[in-house]
Amino acid sequence: MADCRICGGVLTEFYDFGRQPLSDAFLEPDKLEGEFFFRLAVGLCSDCTMVQLMEEVPRDKMFHEDYPYFSSGSSVMRKHFELTARKFLETELTGPDPFIVEIGCNDGIMLKTAAEAGVKHLGVEPSGGVGEVARSKGIRVRTAFFEESTAVEVAKEEGHADVIFAANTICHIPYMDSIFRGIDALLKPNGVFVFEDPYLGDITQRTSFDQIYDEHYYLFTARSVQAMARRFGFDLVDVERYPVHGGEVRYTIARAGAREPSPAVAELIAEENAAGLATLPTLEAFGAKVTKIKEDLVALLTKLREEGKTVVAYGATAKSATVANLCGLNSDLVSFVCDTTPQKQNRLTPGTHIPVRSPEAFSNPYPDYALLFAWNHAEEIMAKEKAFREAGGKWILYVPEVHVL
Ligand code: TYD
Repeated sequence: MADCRICGGVLTEFYDFGRQPLSDAFLEPDKLEGEFFFRLAVGLCSDCTMVQLMEEVPRDKMFHEDYPYFSSGSSVMRKHFELTARKFLETELTGPDPFIVEIGCNDGIMLKTAAEAGVKHLGVEPSGGVGEVARSKGIRVRTAFFEESTAVEVAKEEGHADVIFAANTICHIPYMDSIFRGIDALLKPNGVFVFEDPYLGDITQRTSFDQIYDEHYYLFTARSVQAMARRFGFDLVDVERYPVHGGEVRYTIARAGAREPSPAVAELIAEENAAGLATLPTLEAFGAKVTKIKEDLVALLTKLREEGKTVVAYGATAKSATVANLCGLNSDLVSFVCDTTPQKQNRLTPGTHIPVRSPEAFSNPYPDYALLFAWNHAEEIMAKEKAFREAGGKWILYVPEVHVL
């Protein structure tokens, strides 16, 4: 029985995805031994309503020199983060000596714009390989996990920050007590801590259960983030919804009393309460839909195999580890997965050992069906792969339910 990682309250498990691998650990074909597995299950805290994993995977197993996810692989995401940086440059970073820190800057997709504008910045990134790519773009990067001690060092060496930003990173970090002590040490008195992550409201609404994997320790709501911020001496002062990655919320946190919360905070919390978002009945209903998707997807892929159709998957996403392992997919059902990331190509998918190939393999020849693992980039990928549909190919999607396009 686990306790809530935020408040120590009682966690009630509501879905068990079973034995799962590290979602970003793509394997070399001749090095399959010793693959790491853990039990992926998710629970709700009955006190602070934080939804979280029941088991924690050690951080060094996930984020290291060879971490293969590069944020800049999507043009939609490049635009999203350019706009994000521009907004900070026009609002929070207009005072004397502005300073922006990003926790988990990855390949510099956001900080690039700040660096080009000549604004003082620092990325704190534990994964050496992606951080090196950021450095090659002229971005200052410290290879480290952000935690209290790192923040204290950065504050001493570089001064205090106006903005501490993180995208798709804070939900990866179980130890939020150390994070908030770090924010306290590094942030200027009226600075803001801004982070965006997949939103539980979108996940339940779309049944996008594949947002649940080793790296996504928390599934936030405005209500749970507000409770978390208050617990650590801060307050939630703004929320904004974004359609990226299947639906995210950007949370703005300030020191308690430093800023007046925008009405959007109370509005979103009221919406969540009215919908019973982080309550067991809603989460159990979500779980039942997950099981239905699993059954439908396995049935569809089995039928297509019996009919002799070819099926490949598109996008070797971290998310797809959850789907593929939950459904027991293998290279009989899905011949290969294509992906633009060189670091994933010619490797095997975690747990299910399906080969990963370059996107050139997709059209050579086109399969009958393509299972869109990167459904969050559907518009971008379907536009790029227009010729696939024109050649008679069909897309298989599994959120919000299994359907063929
Ligand atoms: P993404 O869904 O962004 O994240 P996660 O791995 O956290 O689930 O991953 C998208 C993957 O899809 C990434 O490996 C790059 C790949 N991709 C393509 O192969 N082609 C494309 O056009 C796009 C946008 C992504």
